Amino acid sequence: MVKKKACIFISGQGSNLKNLILRSRAENFPIKVSLVISNNTKANGINYARKYKIPYIFINCQLKNYENKILFYLKKYKISFICLAGFMKIISKKIINSFENKIINIHPSLLPKFKGLNTFKRVLKNKERKTGCTVHYVNNKLDDGNIIVKKFFYLSPNDNENILKKKTQQLEYRAYPEAIIKVFRNC
Ligand code: GAR
Repeated sequence: MVKKKACIFISGQGSNLKNLILRSRAENFPIKVSLVISNNTKANGINYARKYKIPYIFINCQLKNYENKILFYLKKYKISFICLAGFMKIISKKIINSFENKIINIHPSLLPKFKGLNTFKRVLKNKERKTGCTVHYVNNKLDDGNIIVKKFFYLSPNDNENILKKKTQQLEYRAYPEAIIKVFRNC
């Protein structure tokens, strides 16, 4: 199998990045993590890029033309697929148009419910019976686009924001690789 070269975009902890790096080592996994892009120089996830010897770059989304820098590096590393994993910036139209249907994202709620930030707080406030995570294609709107995989669990009476985050992330580590396999199943 010829693996697609993928770039993972991060902003913080990078636990999904680590999970994808490890999963992508399997011979039959459809992508190879070939580049990491972070908009945050202090992102812990960069340590995983270093540890697993994956090239990484920092971008400053405040700068004019930052998208050109991203597109330059995506081309340089021959990237054909992008996974957003805790990337807390909106991907610009220019990049979306250059990678149509080639960008996916993971979000810690059952979309279309609870788009945006503070999902766990809102899930609790709304007294939801269940929550989970969603992997979806990225389009021009926030946390929108066709859904690839959704996984859920039922809330327990003792759940708080921290517990919900932990439970959701455990599901994410299964959902993201599953979604990538699904995307490339018929390729
Ligand atoms: C993940 O839980 C992901 O769903 C969320 O950020 C976390 C990143 O964790 N993404 C969003 O909220 C995007 N809207 P990680 O850095 O440990 O992978």
